[in-house]
Amino acid sequence: MGPNGKVALVTGAGSGIGRATALALAGAGASVVIADVDDAGGAETVRMVEGNGGKAAFVHTDVTRSEDLERMVAFAEERFGALHIVHNNAGISTPPPRFPAAPLDSWEKTVMIDLWAVIAGTQAAVPAIKRGGGGVIINTASLAGLIAYLPDPIYAAAKHGVVGFTRSLAFLKDEANIRVNCVCPGVVNTPMIRKGAASLGPEALAQVEETLSRMPLMTPETIANAVLTLITDDRLNGQALSVIYGREPRLIDPPVSFGHDPAQGR
Ligand SMILES: NC(=O)c1ccc[n+]([C@@H]2O[C@H](COP(=O)([O-])OP(=O)(O)OC[C@H]3O[C@@H](n4cnc5c(N)ncnc54)[C@H](O)[C@@H]3O)[C@@H](O)[C@H]2O)c1
Repeated sequence: MGPNGKVALVTGAGSGIGRATALALAGAGASVVIADVDDAGGAETVRMVEGNGGKAAFVHTDVTRSEDLERMVAFAEERFGALHIVHNNAGISTPPPRFPAAPLDSWEKTVMIDLWAVIAGTQAAVPAIKRGGGGVIINTASLAGLIAYLPDPIYAAAKHGVVGFTRSLAFLKDEANIRVNCVCPGVVNTPMIRKGAASLGPEALAQVEETLSRMPLMTPETIANAVLTLITDDRLNGQALSVIYGREPRLIDPPVSFGHDPAQGR
């Protein structure tokens, strides 16, 4: 499904990967709803889209609040007349210290934003996308949703959940003409990869900057391109696409299959 003439909604579009996807979608002709808890970042993305001649509107959204999720979906339909594409992208890493030392509420917050909000955002969007005749939902998972990620086990748990949820929604294509896929990026140069260290102070941040300066980092635009592939290629449904620096994006098969198990049927 090409984005031209369609209505798209991107959560966490006030920064990083979400902003890059919003710009790419608008560049491809979609009207884009920018949903973020960060009003200034969201407004800046709208300015950037409009500066390129595209159409965008911001709606303040805390993805951990179901009433905000309902409101952002209603906003898309009111403002642009329909909803066809949703990118559940808002996310955080868990601030230090690492599990199990962290207080309960720090890992609850990660699970709420990185997993619960993807589930609730999808549930809020499905009726509207159905009303619009069908479409695509893309979830931002992570490489940490496919492999172990020792620095942040809670983040890894939530992102594995996003991959499992995405794969298990393949039935929506037949039921509602909605394809659901997820993107699994490696390390991307966005504010997120510095936030944990920044919360510990300037010394920790300088250390992380030093480490990052020796790492190959992807740009948010690289991930946005992969998201557009997942949107436009009608064959892709229930898929997880890994995007790693220096390699071609690759669809990742589940590690095992139970083809004969009726529970796996669509
Ligand atoms: N940067 C990486 O290396 C990397 C790698 C793999 C996956 N990801 C994932 O990509 C997604 C985007 O991250 P990013 O790197 O662009 O980070 P970012 O910090 O640049 O952007 C995240 C955005 O989400 C918003 N957000 C946070 N909590 C929110 C809430 N409760 N409600 C609404 N919006 C909220 C922030 O305000 C911010 O604008 C996340 O899901 C992240 O887990 C990032």
